[in-house]
This record gives sequence, C-alpha cells and structure tokens, in this order.
Amino acid sequence: MLAGAANGPKGGRRCRGGFAAATPVETEPAESPREAGTLRPSECDKGRCMPTKDGLVGPFPEGADPDEYDRLRRRVLWAMPSGLYVIGSTDGAQRLNGMTANWVTQLSFDPKWVGVSVEREALTHELIAAGGCFAVSLIDREDRVIVRKFTKPVDVDLAAKTLNDFSYVERATGAPVLAQAVAFVDCELRQQVEAGNHTLFVGEVVDAGFLKDEDTPVLRMEDTRMNYGG
Ligand SMILES: Cc1cc2nc3c(=O)[nH]c(=O)nc-3n(C[C@H](O)[C@H](O)[C@H](O)COP(=O)(O)O)c2cc1C
Repeated sequence: MLAGAANGPKGGRRCRGGFAAATPVETEPAESPREAGTLRPSECDKGRCMPTKDGLVGPFPEGADPDEYDRLRRRVLWAMPSGLYVIGSTDGAQRLNGMTANWVTQLSFDPKWVGVSVEREALTHELIAAGGCFAVSLIDREDRVIVRKFTKPVDVDLAAKTLNDFSYVERATGAPVLAQAVAFVDCELRQQVEAGNHTLFVGEVVDAGFLKDEDTPVLRMEDTRMNYGG
C-alpha cells in the first residue's frame, strides 16, 4: 500500500453496490492555506480567476531567482498534458455534486484503478470521503462550456435529476454521470492518499461505458484556455 494510504471511506461505504470499508479513515486537516486552481491572465480578466496562494513555494534551485523560477515552474507544470473531466460524487444519501478536474489518471490495470486528486476544501472531497465512490465523466470536445460551469458551487435538482441544469444518470455506485458525457468510469473508493493540499482518491472501476459514439473526440485541457495548479 502507498505511504499514507488508508482503505475505504470514513465511516464505511455508502455508495450503492460495492465493498464495505475495512478501516474507518480520518483525513488530516489541511496544514497549508488553499492553493487554488490558477487561470491564465486572460481568464482572470474575465473575472474567472480563482485565488492563488500567497507567497512562493520552494524548493528553489541554487542561484535561481525565486520569483522568476516560480513562474517558469508553473509554465512547465501547465505544459504537462491532461484531460478535462467532471467528477461526480455523492454521500449516498441526498447530497450530490459535480466538479471540473484534470488531475485524473488510470493507476493500475489489474485491478482497474483510477485516481482523482481533489482539494481538501472541495465539497467533492467531503462527498467522496463520506460516500466512498466517484464517477468520472469524459466530456465531448464540443461541450467545453460544461467544464466552466463545474468550477463553482453546483445547483442540484434531485427531482429533475440535474446538476447545473445538465441531466445526470446514476450507474453502479449512484455517483452522478453527466447524461451528455461521451463516456464514464464509475468507481468505488479503495484507498485515499494525502498528497500535499490535495487527496488522491483511488477508485476501482466497477462500471464503464460510452454514452455517445465511441469516436467522439473528448475534451482535453489544451482545447481550452484554462489551467490548474502549476
Ligand atoms: C481547468 C480546471 C481544472 C481543475 N482541476 C481540478 C482538479 O484536478 N482537482 C481539484 O481538486 N480541483 C480542480 N479544479 C478546481 C475545482 O473545479 C473547483 O475548486 C471547484 O469549485 C470545486 O468544486 P466543489 O467544491 O463543488 O467540489 C479545477 C479547476 C479548473 C478551472
């Protein structure tokens, strides 16, 4: 098991279908202030800029100007290619959410594990830890407007089954999958790993499928003018 990892959700699994947590988990409180997603200046100009952490984050190579190096390192980290997804979460009761994320990747092919790295302050963090599941929606490249709408608190209509007026469906776990997603993976939480100011939630794929034609191009970060982290 990875260092710092723990099995299953706090207080046991509440998502539909799957496993019972072996050990209740306490997540350490955040030690540093929120280092939020950052957007390019042009995005900030449109009032979409999220707060950034005050001060510079080390370490710095010997002789480097901290400010200059900080900006260079950001550009390098932003240059790392990634996809762009909506993570659906639920506490297994009445609370549901959707959140734009790019820190999503497959971690193992046997078992089939996918990891999502989530800010400790996010509602999504609370719901995945409580419910023990998450779903990743792969977004149509033509639907980039969707990811802009899931970077702030979401309007949930349980009766209409919508998140921000976008219909969702529930698959094996009950975590919401956007109905207009190209494809999805639905995961039960297996481990959670402290990762600085984020938590890496490791889930096993218990359901997956295409909701649109398999050849539909999916959205990647490079298709937008957005960035995160860096
Ligand atoms: C392009 C982009 C990518 C993002 N990727 C992530 C990510 O991988 N992990 C994360 O925790 N937040 C990410 N965020 C920030 C969340 O979308 C944002 O904090 C959201 O409001 C959290 O939602 P919640 O509190 O409703 O869960 C990203 C934001 C943007 C604009």
